[in-house]
Order: sequence, then structure tokens, then C-alpha cells
Amino acid sequence: MVHNFSSLLLVFLLFIAPTYAIPIEQVSSICNQSKKPSFCFALLNSKPKANLVSLTQYTIDTTRTNVTNTIKLINSLIAQSVNDPKAKNHYKSCLEHFKGALYNVDYTQELLKKGDYQGVNVAASSIQTNVDDCISGESPTDPPYHDPSMLPKYASIIELVVEIILIISNSLLR
Ligand SMILES: *[C@@H]1O[C@H](CO)[C@@H](O)[C@H](O)[C@H]1NC(C)=O
Ligand SMILES: *[C@@H]1O[C@H](CO)[C@@H](O)[C@H](O)[C@H]1NC(C)=O
Repeated sequence: MVHNFSSLLLVFLLFIAPTYAIPIEQVSSICNQSKKPSFCFALLNSKPKANLVSLTQYTIDTTRTNVTNTIKLINSLIAQSVNDPKAKNHYKSCLEHFKGALYNVDYTQELLKKGDYQGVNVAASSIQTNVDDCISGESPTDPPYHDPSMLPKYASIIELVVEIILIISNSLLR
């Protein structure tokens, strides 16, 4: 009986283990594809015992917090730029793009719940596009705005977080 029970338990553990937590090699292979692996490791290691789906969830939640904080920053930059129409225009356009980013974060979330990992990948790349449109302008001919604020730094962190969503959703598709 005892023997049977332990072999049952072993079968059970073998069965659940792969979905319970991803092995460290998988975290490495995800983060090795990132532009800044050290950032990726720090983020993913702050969520131990996660599987690929819960890691995607976690990076989406992180993106939402980041985008929400960035919108707050942009609103205060708009308020500070009353005497600088060029800055004000730039930040107002960024506000629209980041509202679009927030919408796409929610959409990414919805697709993850449905298990549509291809959709997650596409929607997450739209977040990247929203952020790029703020920082670099919507068209390559737009003159770059030299932004002395914290906004470009916030944006580059969001791009790193979203890149992880792209990498993980790609591995979910395999
Ligand atoms: C990730 O890159 C490091 C350093 O280049 C390497 O040692 C490691 O084997 C790589 N891991 C995977 C899973 O590709
Ligand atoms: C974005 O998220 C990262 C990871 O949690 C965090 O280090 C960073 O401070 C956040 N930035 C903003 C603006 O919320």
C-alpha cells in the first residue's frame, strides 16, 4: 500500500512539476533573449515558483503599473509646460499614446485569459508601438524631441518589460 502510494505520488509530482514552476534554464533562455538580461532576471526572479502563464500575467501587471505611473508623470509634465508650447505638444501627444498603451495592456490581459498566446504577442507589440510613437514620433520624419524629463527612462523600462511578454508568449506558442 505504502509502496503504491509513493509511486502514485511520484507520478503525480512528475505530472504537476513542469507546470508548477519553470526551471532556471528556462528563465535563462528567456532572459538571454532580452536586450538587458540582468533586468529580466531581476524581474522574473522576484516571482519564484511561477509557470510561463503566471509569469506572463506578472509581466502584464508590471507593465500596467509602469504605464499608469508614466501617465501620472506625463500629466504633471503637461502641467509644468504652460510656457513651453513645444514641450506641451510633445507631452500631450505622449498622453494619447500612453492611453493607447493602457488600452492595449488590458487587451493583452484579456487575450491571456482566453489562452490566445499569439494574440498576447501581437497586442504586446502594440504596447511597444504606442511607447515608440511617444518617444520617437509617429513617423520617421518627425523631428526628435529632446526630452530632459524622466519620461524616456520610464519608457525604456516599459519596453524592457514588454519585451519579456513578447519572449514568453513566443515560448508559450512552441
Ligand atoms: C544564457 O547565456 C549565458 C551567458 O552567455 C550562458 O552561460 C547560458 O548557458 C545561456 N543559457 C541559455 C539557457 O541559453
Ligand atoms: C516599472 O517596473 C519596474 C519593475 O517592477 C520598476 O523597477 C520600475 O520602478 C517601474 N517604473 C515605474 C515608472 O513605475
